[in-house]
Amino acid sequence: MDRFEKRILLVTGLLIGVFLFAILVARDVKKIDLPSCVPYDRAYLEPGIKQIDSRTFSVFCVAGMWAFEPADMTFPAGSEVDFYLSSKDVVHGFHIYEKNVNLMAVPGGIGKTTVRFDKPGIYHLVCHEYCGTGHQNMQAEITVK
Ligand code: CUA
Repeated sequence: MDRFEKRILLVTGLLIGVFLFAILVARDVKKIDLPSCVPYDRAYLEPGIKQIDSRTFSVFCVAGMWAFEPADMTFPAGSEVDFYLSSKDVVHGFHIYEKNVNLMAVPGGIGKTTVRFDKPGIYHLVCHEYCGTGHQNMQAEITVK
């Protein structure tokens, strides 16, 4: 192994270390919820919103050609919302533009993320994974009052 190769390996190792450190800082210091998968359960395929308490909600969001169910959601400011996400047909995207939330809706899989909505306003949910001829119309709105 020559000196150039050793330097490349050292730089690569350092970069991997920096990326892993950034993920841990995001999770533990900035308290950003990392998207995760929960075990598959058919119960998550019924779309709906469940209120846990005045500021805590669970949304069971089902993506399908070419809409999200539920399509309109309203939460009070300061709410913490657990999104459970699945698809009833093909792979869709799940992107809440203003919150930088990025998930994939995969048939047979459940994605989960938690989002805190502190500021009142309209948040736009769009599909950002090409899913067919109606892809560009696949969107929903989240209203925070
Ligand atoms: Cu669903 Cu693109």
